[in-house]
Amino acid sequence: MLIGGLHSGRIPLSDLRLDLTSDNFAADALGRLREYGMFYCRGWLEEPVLESVRQEFELAFSEVREKDPAGLTDEGKVPVSRYGKTRTGAQLRFGNDAEFANRLPASHEVFGQDWMADLAGSYLGIPCTLNRHIVLTDDFDPDQEIISHHFDEMNALKFYVPLDDIDRENGPFQAIPGTTEPTSRLRVAEWLRHEKFDDVRQRVFEQHSEEVIHALYGQFKATLRSRELTFQVPAGSLLVFDTDTIHRAGLLSPGRRRRIIRASSYRGIWP
Ligand SMILES: [Fe+2]
Repeated sequence: MLIGGLHSGRIPLSDLRLDLTSDNFAADALGRLREYGMFYCRGWLEEPVLESVRQEFELAFSEVREKDPAGLTDEGKVPVSRYGKTRTGAQLRFGNDAEFANRLPASHEVFGQDWMADLAGSYLGIPCTLNRHIVLTDDFDPDQEIISHHFDEMNALKFYVPLDDIDRENGPFQAIPGTTEPTSRLRVAEWLRHEKFDDVRQRVFEQHSEEVIHALYGQFKATLRSRELTFQVPAGSLLVFDTDTIHRAGLLSPGRRRRIIRASSYRGIWP
């Protein structure tokens, strides 16, 4: 006898929406991260700031394109790469240093807020490294999905801001809330098994069997995927998530574009 249906355990998107100005924000944010691995704030950046960040984004890409077109050869996922081509576009990566502060001052300010430091410290523990890397991604080459369901090889707390309005057809962020803890065990097991960054099997559904998935999550793949949420949000919204939560970037239709700026915070001291 089956008790409960396919959508048991699925939570509504509204449960993950928080208001940064509410009195309980700090406690709510920490609670959502611990229970679901994520939350979001709709329309977080006001238009003048959002527009400044967009301009910095465009300028940063245009400078590097002019200076180093041959640099468009890296795969983009390699942690040391600065400017890389990806399957569906390009990415530009910065360390959170003086150069970033000088070249992208508005973006630097966006990712240096006190409440972020408080949240990172509470969630990751102290010491931690706030927004150590900032990655700009520009996706414009269409595909059925920008990246399939995965965890990031190096676990991070990410602050993620789309610079375009996001709907189902321009690479929405999609995630399965509540999968953080079992995915964390899978990630660690992969590292112990392979030891090399590129060998870690991060594509959860493609690279792991139904049996492994059931052992970890207590559900087979189809049921787990039915709990996925799609974040269709206006430009300037903020998503905060633990990268051990199963996530992906979805469909990118022809003629569509998706620009994202996101920053990664890590446990411990990241040099
Ligand atoms: Fe990711």
